[in-house]
Amino acid sequence: MAVRLTVVGSINLDLVARVERLPRAGETVTGAAFTRIPGGKGANQAVAAARLGAQVEMLACVGEDEHAELAIAGLKEAGVGLDRLKRVQVPTGVALITVDAAGENEIVVAPGANLELRPDDLDLGDTDAVLCQLEIPLETVERASELAPDGFFLNAAPARGPYPAADVTIVNRFEADTLPQRDGVVVTTLGPEGAVLYEDGIEVARAEAPHVQAVDGTGAGDAFTACFVVSVLEGRSNEEALRRAAVAGALAAATFGAQSSMPTKDQVDALL
Ligand code: RIB
Repeated sequence: MAVRLTVVGSINLDLVARVERLPRAGETVTGAAFTRIPGGKGANQAVAAARLGAQVEMLACVGEDEHAELAIAGLKEAGVGLDRLKRVQVPTGVALITVDAAGENEIVVAPGANLELRPDDLDLGDTDAVLCQLEIPLETVERASELAPDGFFLNAAPARGPYPAADVTIVNRFEADTLPQRDGVVVTTLGPEGAVLYEDGIEVARAEAPHVQAVDGTGAGDAFTACFVVSVLEGRSNEEALRRAAVAGALAAATFGAQSSMPTKDQVDALL
C-alpha cells in the first residue's frame, strides 16, 4: 500500500527567465527565454512525493486570480489531493526566477496567498506523516508540527527562524548556517557533493550525488526532500533514504524547471 503524506506548504507560479549569465546588481541582461510554470516548495515536494509513489494530500492557499489554475496544474496532473485547498482574494504566490547557462539560479518570492494559510485551516485527516517548508506563516508550521502523527518532516527553506521542532529537518548548506544545534535527525544537502545526515549533532551517514550535467538547480532540493521523506516512510533506513534522495536531487538538477524535473521512482531506482 502507498505511504500517505500530507504536505502543508506553498504554491507559486514560477516566472522563469533563462539567460546566459545572471545579472549583477543594477545590470540589465537581455536575450532571455521566458516561461510560466507551476512551483512553490510545498507544491514541488508534493508532486515529487506523488511521482515517487506516495499518496499525497496538499493543504495550501491560492488566490482567485488567473495565476491560480496554472499554479495548481502540476499538482492535479500528479494526482495530489486538493480537496482542502483554500482560495482567498489575495494574489497567488509568485516566484521570479533567473537561471543561467550553468544551471545556477536566483529566486525572489512574493508569497501572496501563501501567507493566508492559517493554523485554523489545518485539518490533517488520516496521514502517515506531515511535511512542511517555510514559505507559509511560521505559526501554521508550528501548528502542523503539533498536529502531526509520528512523523513531522521540516524542510527549513527558505531560512528563517525560529524553527519549529521536527523529527527530521532538511536544509541546504546555507540554511544549515542559520539552524541552531538541534536534537534528532538533521540532513544537510551539499549540491553536487551529495548530502550528510547528523543524529544529535553527530555525522552518521554521507551520500555522494551521481554526476549529472546541471541544467537547472530549481527544485533539486525539493526532489531531495520528497525522496528522503518517502523513502523513510517506506521503511528504508536513513542511510538508504539519503542515497536515494541524493540521486533524486541530481536527476532534478539535470532537467529544466521545478515540477517538470521531479523524477519517478523508476528513474531513481535506475540511477542507483
Ligand atoms: O525550491 C524551488 C521553488 O522555490 C520554486 O519553485 C519557487 O517557487 C520557490 O518557492
